[in-house]
Amino acid sequence: MASTDHPPVVHDLVGVGFGPSNLGLSIALAERRDQGRYPPLSAVFLERQEAFGWHRGMLIDDATMQVSFLKDLVTTRNPASDFSFLSFLHHVGRLHDFINHKTLFPLRQEFHDYLTWCAERVADQVRYGHEVVEVRPVYSGERVTHLDVVAENGAGEQAVLRARNVVFGSGLRPRMPEGVEQSARVWHNEYLLTRLGELAPKADPRSFVVVGAGQSAAEVADHLHQRFPRAQVHAVLSRYGYSPSDDSPFANRIFDPEAVDAFHRAPQEVKDQLTGYHRNTNYSVVDPDLIGELYRRHYAEKVHGDQRLHLHNTSRVAGLSESTEGVAVVVEDLVTGKQTPVPANYVVFATGYHPADARPLLGELADRVVTTPEGRPVVERDYRVATDDTLTCGLYLQGGTEHSHGVSASLLSNIATRVAEIIDSVATRAGAPAEERA
Ligand code: FDA
Ligand code: NAP
Repeated sequence: MASTDHPPVVHDLVGVGFGPSNLGLSIALAERRDQGRYPPLSAVFLERQEAFGWHRGMLIDDATMQVSFLKDLVTTRNPASDFSFLSFLHHVGRLHDFINHKTLFPLRQEFHDYLTWCAERVADQVRYGHEVVEVRPVYSGERVTHLDVVAENGAGEQAVLRARNVVFGSGLRPRMPEGVEQSARVWHNEYLLTRLGELAPKADPRSFVVVGAGQSAAEVADHLHQRFPRAQVHAVLSRYGYSPSDDSPFANRIFDPEAVDAFHRAPQEVKDQLTGYHRNTNYSVVDPDLIGELYRRHYAEKVHGDQRLHLHNTSRVAGLSESTEGVAVVVEDLVTGKQTPVPANYVVFATGYHPADARPLLGELADRVVTTPEGRPVVERDYRVATDDTLTCGLYLQGGTEHSHGVSASLLSNIATRVAEIIDSVATRAGAPAEERA
């Protein structure tokens, strides 16, 4: 990619990141182009990974999706799209097998294959191996009319793309407890399979500690317990036990596009209330089948007198000290205060994620972003970040909008409809007539 284009090519959209959100956007743009909609919109996406990959470190063989396959990248926007999960199954010759399976929830590995198949079909819109490091304003007089998106490749070379609009789809970042650093023996679950894959072929770990009570923690405990049949697996959670995720039909409506309308309109106290009521659709909760399986195994081991899966409930990690031999973990019972030493070969923190913050990339532009009293960006219904009126270009967010658009912000549920809303917004600002909506 040339870094000194003269005059620079101006793209209607430049996307930061190419996970499912911006992949969904690139598909909607490709379909829009095929339909000859006006105005044509050009786009380039910059992805720091060398190839498409979706939470690769958690592609545990038997893990399934937490969302119906009908909430793929296109179906709720365009049920006739040939980028649907069903089209993928048809393409790979598994449609009948999947139908016979009678499930809405594909394997995560299978969904990864679907996403990769989609990404390959829009590969002309993506530049892999490019990490966006800065977004600079381009002035025309007092006004910021364009944005220069600066990316670095693995060799430290810079590329600059000029855009009328930037769409941040940079996803989630692993969250470690304060004061805990990752190391050769202490990992966040995001890197689970990568780190396990790096162990020596004859490695025979005998003890793991897994911290957390969410879906990731339960999947990690389950995986380690099955993969290392001679290892003790210590699950440490502050709750009394793993709690089930609520995916009952009425509660599930919180992920619908109409719920986004309602949430965005709601006063702050109602937003807070809704977030609290429906937190258990997504956070610190586990698929009920997996809870049942872990309990069954825990109980069977009790019966047979060979407990390997240990549940340290109402507990926390009170000490962690690492040596070349392993990690000396101290687990504290929150009820009694009793501290128990648990020697471990490896400790996995499944302590959640937080959304990537786009503001550090914005440099001086960050001061022009309108913020809430809590310091979060104000985001309009069309996902455009509110700025002072010197900016005529657009900054859009896919993710990082839970405070403004509700709990579906970081999930797959709404990608298909959200990308159409973003395209409509960009096209309208570029002068599209109403009938050209995505
Ligand atoms: P995502 O994080 O997937 O992608 C962001 C991309 O941006 C990455 O490829 C990253 O490399 C890139 N990037 C970041 N910064 C960059 C920069 N500066 N420059 C260039 N590239 C950059 N949700 C759901 O609805 N159903 C489910 O079943 C699951 N399952 C699931 C499993 C696991 C293990 C996790 C951790 C999460 C889920 N999720 C989920 C939630 C998850 O957030 C969601 O599936 C998508 O990953 C969201 O897609 P995004 O594209 O927004 O982010
Ligand atoms: P999560 O739901 O946010 O859970 C984080 C867990 O870590 C919680 O139990 C939390 O405690 C605990 N925790 C947080 N900070 C801690 C600290 N400092 N010390 C000790 N414990 C701490 O995260 P997640 O399980 O990674 O799930 C995140 C998202 O990914 C969800 O949307 C989930 O559905 C998705 N996911 C999907 C799949 C799949 O599709 N199969 C797999 C994994 C994840 P509390 O219990 O006190 O809150």
